[in-house]
Amino acid sequence: MKYIQLSVLLFAVIMASCTEKQSQEIVIASPDNSIEIKFNLSEKGEPIYLVNYKNKEVIKSSTLGFNLKELPSLKEDFKIINSATSSFNETWQMPWGEQLDVVNNYNELKIELQETSELKRKLNIIFRVFNDGIGFRYEFPEQENLKEVFITDENTQFNLTGDHQVWWTPGDWDIYEHLFNTTKFSKIDALSKANHPNLGQTYIPLNAVNTPVTMKTASGLHVSFHEAALVDYADMTLKVDTTNFTMTSGLVGSANNDYKVVRTVPFETPWRTIQIAEKAGDLIESKLIVNLNEPNKLGDVSSWVKPTKYTGIWWEMHLGKSSWDMASGKHGATTKNAKAFIDFSAKNNIGAVLVEGWNTGWEHWIGFEDREGVFDFVTPYTDYDLKEVVRYGKEKGVEIIMHHETSAATQTYEKQQDTAYALMQSLGIHAVKTGYVGKILPKGEYHHGQYMVNQYNNAVIKAAKYKVAINAHEPIKDTGLRRTYPNTISREGLRGQEFNAWATDGGNPAEHLPIVAFTRMLAGPIDYTPGIFDIKFDKWKAENQVNTTIAQQLALYVVIYSPIQMAADLIEKYEGNPAFEFIKDVGVDWQQTKVLNGEVGDFVTIARKERTSENWFVGGITDENAREMELNFNFLSPNTIYQAFIYEDGKDADWDKNPTAINIREIEISNQSIIKMQLAPGGGFAISLKPKK
Ligand code: NOJ
Ligand code: CA
Repeated sequence: MKYIQLSVLLFAVIMASCTEKQSQEIVIASPDNSIEIKFNLSEKGEPIYLVNYKNKEVIKSSTLGFNLKELPSLKEDFKIINSATSSFNETWQMPWGEQLDVVNNYNELKIELQETSELKRKLNIIFRVFNDGIGFRYEFPEQENLKEVFITDENTQFNLTGDHQVWWTPGDWDIYEHLFNTTKFSKIDALSKANHPNLGQTYIPLNAVNTPVTMKTASGLHVSFHEAALVDYADMTLKVDTTNFTMTSGLVGSANNDYKVVRTVPFETPWRTIQIAEKAGDLIESKLIVNLNEPNKLGDVSSWVKPTKYTGIWWEMHLGKSSWDMASGKHGATTKNAKAFIDFSAKNNIGAVLVEGWNTGWEHWIGFEDREGVFDFVTPYTDYDLKEVVRYGKEKGVEIIMHHETSAATQTYEKQQDTAYALMQSLGIHAVKTGYVGKILPKGEYHHGQYMVNQYNNAVIKAAKYKVAINAHEPIKDTGLRRTYPNTISREGLRGQEFNAWATDGGNPAEHLPIVAFTRMLAGPIDYTPGIFDIKFDKWKAENQVNTTIAQQLALYVVIYSPIQMAADLIEKYEGNPAFEFIKDVGVDWQQTKVLNGEVGDFVTIARKERTSENWFVGGITDENAREMELNFNFLSPNTIYQAFIYEDGKDADWDKNPTAINIREIEISNQSIIKMQLAPGGGFAISLKPKK
């Protein structure tokens, strides 16, 4: 009894202080004090926050809250019932990744809010402030008056300080495979990107952007917005108000529901993240997104999740040389062809082969409405002996990467996952590339809604039981879940190399990847499928080409991170080409990563040290502009002479006029060396550095 009285009294005291003074600002700063979040309640009792970097506003006062179905919105009349701060500092190790050790150091502020109005509902907000950015999430705690929540809108605001330069893609609910646009914030016009001719599915309902979206302020600060730990929730696009320079979360919905997210209390939302950096390259080095995810739940996966290079029966379909289906008479996935890829890979230090079009059903995918029950993921075409191919591969030390094109028929895939993954396990296949081309079945769902978020996440969790890793195409965006489920090896989620083979809009322009490195790549690994040597492939598609030089194709193995990297071209295109030495040599799993230079949309150079050796690899790429850059090798180990093999754009190289001109030379390099590199328009360079014995 006494206890209750005391708490009632305390409650009264807090209430009194709330009404007396309006401002109860709570401040939390990053461990190095450079970033600061100020939290407060507005006069209406709305939660508001702002973000400072070195005492200057980066995010102006912005509101937080929710609209709920059939209930009053949860966004005002709040009082603070508790707040607590804490600090955290750990170093954890990535089982595979861009680096081995990751420092996870932040200060946390947890605010507990309660409505003063009748329902007295509670909402908590948790802020984490790192030296390289912030994350915050909402927590719906257990409570009397809120049991099941139907979120119709999340109203997380990001109130910008000006008309920043923005690298953006439209907030498509169904695909991320758009080119990036470079405009002022006030000129963002996502709706003008609707009805893209090359997309099997696309839906852009509003003027919104997808994340990661990266910006540069007038004072030169880089800011990138994304989310972390997207679990059982809808993808967050960012609606743009081009007049007031404000973005507000716009959750992806479904045509089947009048809400965006349904959850049972208690639960927490994904983290809303803002990475902040003076140098563009620091965005790439930031590990904020993975840090905001929960630690590994799978334990030691090293015996089955293996970073590797791979070749595949793949590009030939995109060129039209062969096809996925058998009825066409030019089936690509034959036992004979697969064995040729295995032989080539075994000879060239490439650990795996992807085989697409191996299973029945490809006569009935793109363009068909009734796609459920078509693919079955266990029945090979008659000219493909799955068991024999796997056996042959094992004999040669080459793994087969399985392929599951679901054609977005989600119920068929869900039903068959156990059988399909069990088959893989019985054959000793440990990785699958999944695909979700087309409109989602059941109709009305979108690739990025809560329904599909759960599909993608459940596939990863289920696959782990069978020791299977997933490389998803047409995926949900990466939000760092690879930390929790390290069998999430890679994904697409951008305009990949394939667009160069068939897009009717000229393919991926030279500026594409110098933007991607500072946007999409901040989310996580990318299965871009580099390494096209036959840049023009006139024999197959006279109208199309890759819009880079061959040297840039090599650079991509270092610049664009993925633990699985494809040598994507037809294998005969590699035979006898000295540039292929770099693909043979280059690592796929890294001890350390350093971004040596870069400007969003212009150029970037990255150095990575291999985990299993003392070798370093450096890759640099430029947009459509030629440039000269100075490389300082002061990151190398002291007192060591490295033998460096340099693959650079040849004289007069040009992505269009002369893409295959390449110069290969060998020099000695130490940590005192500074060299000049010349990059051609759409060009680049790749360097392998090995300590001299
Ligand atoms: C689209 C994927 O991005 C591509 O890599 C794949 O070959 C096709 N779907 C077929 O699954
Ligand atoms: Ca795709």
